[in-house]
Amino acid sequence: MQVKKILVTDDDVAVVTSLKLLFKQAGYKVFSASEPDSAKEILEETNVDAVILDMNFSRSTDGQEGLLFLKDIKQSYPEIPVVLITAWGSIQLAVEGMKAGASDFIAKPWNNKCLVDTIKLAISLAEKRTLSPANRRQLERNLKIDNIVGQSPELIEVLNTVGRICETDAPVLICGESGTGKELIAEAIHKNSHRKNNPFVKVNLGGISSSLFESEMFGHVKGAFTDAGTNRVGRFELADQGTIFLDEIGDLDLNSQVKLLRVLQDRQFEVLGSSKTKSVNVRVISATNRRLKEMVENKEFREDLFYRINLISINLPSLRERSSDIPLLINYFVNNLKRMYKRDSIVVNPSAVEWLQSLPWPGNIRELRNLVERTILVTTNDLLEVSDFNDQYDSLPGKKESKNLPTVGSMTLEEMEESMIRKTLKSHGSNISKVAVLLGLSRSALYRRMEKYGIKG
Ligand SMILES: Nc1ncnc2c1ncn2[C@@H]1O[C@H](COP(=O)(O)OP(=O)(O)OP(=O)(O)O)[C@@H](O)[C@H]1O
Ligand SMILES: [Mg+2]
Repeated sequence: MQVKKILVTDDDVAVVTSLKLLFKQAGYKVFSASEPDSAKEILEETNVDAVILDMNFSRSTDGQEGLLFLKDIKQSYPEIPVVLITAWGSIQLAVEGMKAGASDFIAKPWNNKCLVDTIKLAISLAEKRTLSPANRRQLERNLKIDNIVGQSPELIEVLNTVGRICETDAPVLICGESGTGKELIAEAIHKNSHRKNNPFVKVNLGGISSSLFESEMFGHVKGAFTDAGTNRVGRFELADQGTIFLDEIGDLDLNSQVKLLRVLQDRQFEVLGSSKTKSVNVRVISATNRRLKEMVENKEFREDLFYRINLISINLPSLRERSSDIPLLINYFVNNLKRMYKRDSIVVNPSAVEWLQSLPWPGNIRELRNLVERTILVTTNDLLEVSDFNDQYDSLPGKKESKNLPTVGSMTLEEMEESMIRKTLKSHGSNISKVAVLLGLSRSALYRRMEKYGIKG
């Protein structure tokens, strides 16, 4: 493998010297510059693979000079990844830098291994960016994705990204409406990574109260607080060497966001009630069905955390946007379900498939799967017709009375969800277990949503 070249830009000689030593030992060829002009000369003469830029470079300013220089580099060399170093106190500067095109940022005082890994990652992502997109068959040759059905361009784009980034340790943010397959994609990234034989730990952040966040995530020792009767291992530690899946990250309150940022930044944390620091090596995948960008603008979600978790972003299209995949999905679900229910002779009339393709699917793939399953359970005939599906569709929670109600666009997804939950609870006398099954949710997921919407059981 060719030796990678990096350029270190800082006017602090001590910093430059230590970074030079660090990266030489890590096998890089290191160039250094103490001010923009000489850095530019190096960039012109040498094909460097990455730049490390100290934003507090030139102590005389508030970092604006570093920012200007960054913009300058990105304009002339958009393909070269630039990693920023900032003081923890001026992390806002790093956020400005990310907006201006920096690849990543790291806070001072840095952890040597983190810094070397960050550079390695930035270089490998920059190289992968230039790979040309593959089609489904090519992807299947290299990836285990047989449980992810579909070949619409929208899904192929997602799978392409999965293929490009699964082997890296880059943090990934998966966004998409409820039921679009966020968890499925997170698992696929893990299963196709070098971490596949290590744990995949899922944490539902929407279900963790602010007061329990640290003990859940970092663990506690016996006696750390009143209810801490035994030692408890936190989720980060459980996920060591593997992947942690931070589901519903948009539901995290601001206090917990700071705590999460810290551990993502330093990869270490303190177990509650103990003074020892633990280090972990985990890959972080986050998911949300909320509009995180808007939440950042409304100051409901920390911007620095957003950039920390979002090095790679994957937007899962709704089922409406990829309705060409509906026939394949129906086929896949029917095949699985008929085996499960021992109804081998079931077939779906093509006109029914066509009809299903025309529906809006606010609950996306989960809703489609539920409908297929109910229809198979309820019907006795082998040829499934529009009317069979239609009967079940009408009986899906919230559908019947609402024929003239939730057209997509007139209600937000959350409003639809809330209305479905209320209606189903009402029609089933608040039988939580039954309602959870009907909505395709676990009991705890249902409780969480009831709490969120202030619905009393
Ligand atoms: N492309 C797909 N092929 C086959 N099954 C899929 C696909 N996408 C999603 N599913 C199935 O749909 C269901 C919902 O997927 P998943 O739980 O990953 O969605 P989600 O986006 O995490 O939803 P939520 O926001 O409600 O948590 C699961 O049963 C999953 O296996
Ligand atoms: Mg999910």
